[in-house]
Amino acid sequence: MSSTDWRSEWLSHCLADTAARGLTRRRRLVSDYAREHSSVEACVDGQHVLSFCSNDYLGLARHPAVVAAWQKTATRYGVGSGASHLVTGHHTEHHLLEEALANFTQRERAVLFSTGYMANLAVSTVFASRTDVIYSDERNHASLIDGARLSGARIARYPHRDTATLEHLLRDRTEPRALLLTDGLFSMDGTVAPLATLSSLCNAAQVWLAVDDAHGLGVLGAHGRGSIEHSGLTALDVPILIGTLGKAFGTFGAFVAGSNDLCELLIQHARTHIFTTALPSAVAAAARAALEVSIEEPWRRERLAAHVERFRAGCSALHLPLMDSVTPIQPIILGSNQAAMEASNHLLTHGILVSAIRPPTVPNDTARLRITFSAAHATDDVDRLLEVLATLPSIPRSSA
Ligand SMILES: Cc1ncc(COP(=O)(O)O)c(C=O)c1O
Repeated sequence: MSSTDWRSEWLSHCLADTAARGLTRRRRLVSDYAREHSSVEACVDGQHVLSFCSNDYLGLARHPAVVAAWQKTATRYGVGSGASHLVTGHHTEHHLLEEALANFTQRERAVLFSTGYMANLAVSTVFASRTDVIYSDERNHASLIDGARLSGARIARYPHRDTATLEHLLRDRTEPRALLLTDGLFSMDGTVAPLATLSSLCNAAQVWLAVDDAHGLGVLGAHGRGSIEHSGLTALDVPILIGTLGKAFGTFGAFVAGSNDLCELLIQHARTHIFTTALPSAVAAAARAALEVSIEEPWRRERLAAHVERFRAGCSALHLPLMDSVTPIQPIILGSNQAAMEASNHLLTHGILVSAIRPPTVPNDTARLRITFSAAHATDDVDRLLEVLATLPSIPRSSA
């Protein structure tokens, strides 16, 4: 056997194993967009499709003001920040964006991270260590789970949104310090965390509460301030807020917002802030422009809510099973990986792109179609989706 054979054998074995479990993933190639300033109609793998699987909820990823801010800043400052924030990578545009985000989230300060994944690793590792405990909703995003693992703290998982079980877990705590991590709006379910109860439980038990509102910010609440505003709470109720810029704000990057000292602690100790190159200034400028558009154009949130309402009414008429979600994330659970793949493929043959989401992203036997809406969709787009969903052969129907 040649010296490379064991390597190729191992690789083929791993890939075959993934395939045998029905978990092979494929990256689709997006090569063009059909509508001006919008990404909902695209050329994907050479096929013209109407897409319902992006997180560009407000339709800002191709907004002219956002693109112009990017171009103007790149022309002036170039395309790379050149260093980490603590060396020479922290530029005027980063500073302005941090101020704008602090203002928007009604907090003293915000600190930028290059991705939401890194922001979540930062919060877990700065606010918890080996002698501590992290409470974690079982449906939390992978980056919260990985952050909790990396911290070395004991992890106490509670069933999705189950605050009664959480109360028991809090009572059993033996560690001096504790952190609770939760998504604000759960990315695969469309459900909102019970933030009012979580906040009072955490306050009573002296537990830090961190909410990852990657999907809620810009979308939920009268002013788009996310799941905290949607739940009638304020910054005082949730001391640590994590947000991303690659979803409703259409660009890239992330932040943590909180008190001055909280943010200073992250700057001093978060390895994912310290040991990585800062975002390009042009990205920061584009994100700030997107934030401004999201504030100045509330009709985007209103249109999104109207799409969700129309879709849910249409699904009920078709007896399609929906989850308890009032958000632009509207999953249809199909159970097996194969059923979800078949449904996704069926939609694609009708020119509709919806991803099939399978374990380990979601629990076993809950593979699903994850449908998301954008303010860039037209009402006709929602109707077209419903027409095609009505033709799905094997979808479970709820009784009338
Ligand atoms: C809830 C949640 N948190 C964090 C992230 C990671 O954010 P980013 O894509 O900026 O790394 C995502 C998805 O990407 C997410 O869905």
